[in-house]
Amino acid sequence: MIEKAAGRILGKLLAILLAGVSVNVAQAAEPEGIPPELVAEYIHAVIQVDRSIYSTHVVEQLQDRKVAVAAEDWKEKGALPLPAQLLQMAGQEVQGLGLGLHIRLSSLGPVYTKNGPVDQFERAGLEAVAKNPRKPYTGIITERDRRYFKAIFADRAVSMACVICHNRHPLSAKRDYKLYDVMGGIIISFPVR
Ligand code: HEC
Repeated sequence: MIEKAAGRILGKLLAILLAGVSVNVAQAAEPEGIPPELVAEYIHAVIQVDRSIYSTHVVEQLQDRKVAVAAEDWKEKGALPLPAQLLQMAGQEVQGLGLGLHIRLSSLGPVYTKNGPVDQFERAGLEAVAKNPRKPYTGIITERDRRYFKAIFADRAVSMACVICHNRHPLSAKRDYKLYDVMGGIIISFPVR
């Protein structure tokens, strides 16, 4: 009797253990996703590198050689778009692809009010990256029943050109920028499950 009961208990224990093993195996076999923080870092890196290459190897070179200049009203003037405009245009184009990917340049003291924060999350994020530019501000937001991962990366005045143009722009909401100040943020969001 005792042996039978012990056998049954052992059998049950083994079954439980094996079930545990099979669950673990099944979990291990699941493809591991890339954390959204890392995806945002990748997208941000590409944006920043493209912007920097465009600024140095296209805008500056052509301006130095007196071939062309970058100007805000580039369409009318037949000039080159400003790097900020290139980024905003890329953001609009990418939105048109229907991936749910959104990219834009924003600021608490923007040239255009349309570039200001659209909600409390963006406002809090722009304030946070202004205080701690090294750390992106991230979170999950829900819009029309869809969950999005949103990341805000600090955008700093890396050259005097940023400072001079923004401080001089007639529509700029802030005119006391200094070199290396955080001027705003690059906001990246994409759908997550
Ligand atoms: C020659 C002028 C000029 C220069 C140089 C310039 N910007 Fe801008 N920036 C603009 C204009 C104009 C806009 C608005 C573009 C739009 O949305 O149409 C803008 C937009 C922005 C925005 C979005 C918020 C806003 O102000 O509307 C940020 C952030 C920004 N620029 C940061 C920078 C940084 C950082 C640099 C240097 C790396 C820089 N800018 C260089 C003119 C300039």
